[in-house]
Amino acid sequence: MKNSVRLMALALFMSVVCWFAIGLVDADTQINIVNQCSQTISACQTDQSGQITSYALGSGASQLIDVGTTWLGGVIWGYPGGSADPTDCNTAKPQADLAEFTTGDNNQDSYDISIVNAYNLPLQIAPTSSGSTCGSPSCTINNLNSFCQPPNTPTGPPGDGCYNNATSPSPGPNPFPTACPEAISYTTDTTGKVYGCQTGTNYEVVFCP
Ligand SMILES: *[C@@H]1O[C@H](CO)[C@@H](O)[C@H](O)[C@H]1NC(C)=O
Repeated sequence: MKNSVRLMALALFMSVVCWFAIGLVDADTQINIVNQCSQTISACQTDQSGQITSYALGSGASQLIDVGTTWLGGVIWGYPGGSADPTDCNTAKPQADLAEFTTGDNNQDSYDISIVNAYNLPLQIAPTSSGSTCGSPSCTINNLNSFCQPPNTPTGPPGDGCYNNATSPSPGPNPFPTACPEAISYTTDTTGKVYGCQTGTNYEVVFCP
């Protein structure tokens, strides 16, 4: 073999090795936010940084986000309408059910749906790779108007949800845990409701699953 051919073969081999190495190290988590609602919504995203990003999603639209190798305190929520305004997101956050994520922490991802503050839109978290056994919590409450009875109260816009005022299961009945048994409905209600997947898994966050 000519030296130049040998050199080219070696270069090719090294670049393939490099791409493999990058592929193994760079386990970015990708989250596809899907709007299956019949209406346009705004999806909001934040994390420990406190910075809010928002996307207007028409019915059937989706937005793929790359949250990097580690995402601490990641939260995704939504509200009706396409304003995609971080200020509206901020107001809607305590009026909404939340998809909560911590990914890439000790090679483990954890995620849950929280209705501790409120509920507004049907929501599901579904692992889309290597994760069929990790669990896909969802929470859907139909007829929010009739559901939202005292002490729980309607939030009004922009969230258009229902506040979970009964912050613990007692005193008196709290309809939230009954309506959404897979979601965390008060602060200590975490048993079996925090899901885990191996880091490197990708996810779908589906509104109106
Ligand atoms: C329910 O909680 C919301 C948000 O904290 C509050 O604004 C509202 O006044 C509460 N309603 C009742 C009946 O306590």
